[in-house]
Amino acid sequence: MRFIIEKGPPLRGEAKVAPAKNAALPILAAALLTKEELFVEDLPGISDIAAMLEILGLFGVRLGREGRAACLCAENPRQPKERAYAPVRQMRASILVLGPLLARLGEAFLPLPGGCAIGSRPVDLHVKGLEALGADIEYEEGGLRCRAAGLRGATVYLDSPSVGATENILMAATLARGSTLIQNAAREPEIVDLARVLSAMGARISGAGTSFIAVEGVESLHGARVTPMPDRIEAGTLLLCAAATRGEILLRGAAPEHLFALNAKLLECGCELRISGDQIYVRGGPRRGVDVQTQVYPGFPTDLQAPMMALLCRAKGSSILVESIFENRFMHAAELRRMGAQITVRDRIAVVRGVKKLYGTELLCTDLRAGAALVLAALDAEGQSRIGGVEHIDRGYENLEQKLGALGARIRREE
Ligand code: UD1
Repeated sequence: MRFIIEKGPPLRGEAKVAPAKNAALPILAAALLTKEELFVEDLPGISDIAAMLEILGLFGVRLGREGRAACLCAENPRQPKERAYAPVRQMRASILVLGPLLARLGEAFLPLPGGCAIGSRPVDLHVKGLEALGADIEYEEGGLRCRAAGLRGATVYLDSPSVGATENILMAATLARGSTLIQNAAREPEIVDLARVLSAMGARISGAGTSFIAVEGVESLHGARVTPMPDRIEAGTLLLCAAATRGEILLRGAAPEHLFALNAKLLECGCELRISGDQIYVRGGPRRGVDVQTQVYPGFPTDLQAPMMALLCRAKGSSILVESIFENRFMHAAELRRMGAQITVRDRIAVVRGVKKLYGTELLCTDLRAGAALVLAALDAEGQSRIGGVEHIDRGYENLEQKLGALGARIRREE
């Protein structure tokens, strides 16, 4: 599948932000923690969500769909008979079912996903944390074999504040006996959102959003009706697309308080920005280069580094981008160079020298956010761009071509 993109007019109009992929995935995994129904009112129409629903189905979760909503019921969770279950191996976030499965079943086997394009992405922090809660975990036949004769609360120090490990340990701790303290926890808004949902299910959690999360284990959790937070990465990508075309758009249903790092950089490079309630208005394009370093929240998100780089390709002067989270997340630089961008990469540092024009050509997405970066660059590149590997983009952006098309972009999908 590919996108055909022609240089179009500056983007103009309004767009609504989708529910967050990275909040919805752990929320869906949390359905395993209760016998009762978890009703998720709005899910983004992306393939990672479909994959997570399929994985939960393998583990015995009953699913009902009503439009964008989903009703999940893990009355009788179970381990699938087949070991090499494909959807688990394909999606990194499938590791999020491990903590809930252990808490509910007392044992679990989970195949591990292979290394992915942006770095090796080990799961040692997930394993260490669940072991601290009393699980016995062994690497076996390409997966993790876990047993726990009843989880018990513990103090867990994370060597680095991993988002997924924090979520896994948090979910497992809700049903562990006694209290758990996660030290050096991730502080991403998606963690706060998960804690909100778990609390609505009866969990006792304090400190989510800080580096210290305390959980008082309870006997059981109950059902709830919830909606995931707005997707800050989709919102950021749309703002950057508008800026790339020197356009003018209004985003509705956003959470501007989660986007201040990006907003600061948009202002610094010369865009006009206005925020009111859940709306963000952006106008104009980058007038000068800026330096960006990705960091854990509240720093600049690594998931916006690729689209930010694509924007800076046409800003006057030089920009330095430092990728501190993933060791190999500059794959898009080579593709942007093929469009005429001037980018030098050394390890985790990229230097971008602004050029007057980019040129459309044959391009390939290597991962989700790299794909978004190529679309962004293509919107304002001379001539036509043909971007292959759109499956990567579909993992995390809901109908990106429709959203951009409604803002005036010349983009279409070709099977
Ligand atoms: C989540 C997001 C992803 C985002 C990332 C960083 C989801 C579904 N995905 O991924 O979009 O890019 O946060 O904001 O929410 N690490 C280890 N050992 C571990 C776990 C992680 O060394 O056990 C390393 C990773 O290799 C990486 C860094 O820690 O270098 C951050 O990873 P982590 O925060 O765990 O990211 P994810 O939860 O996988």
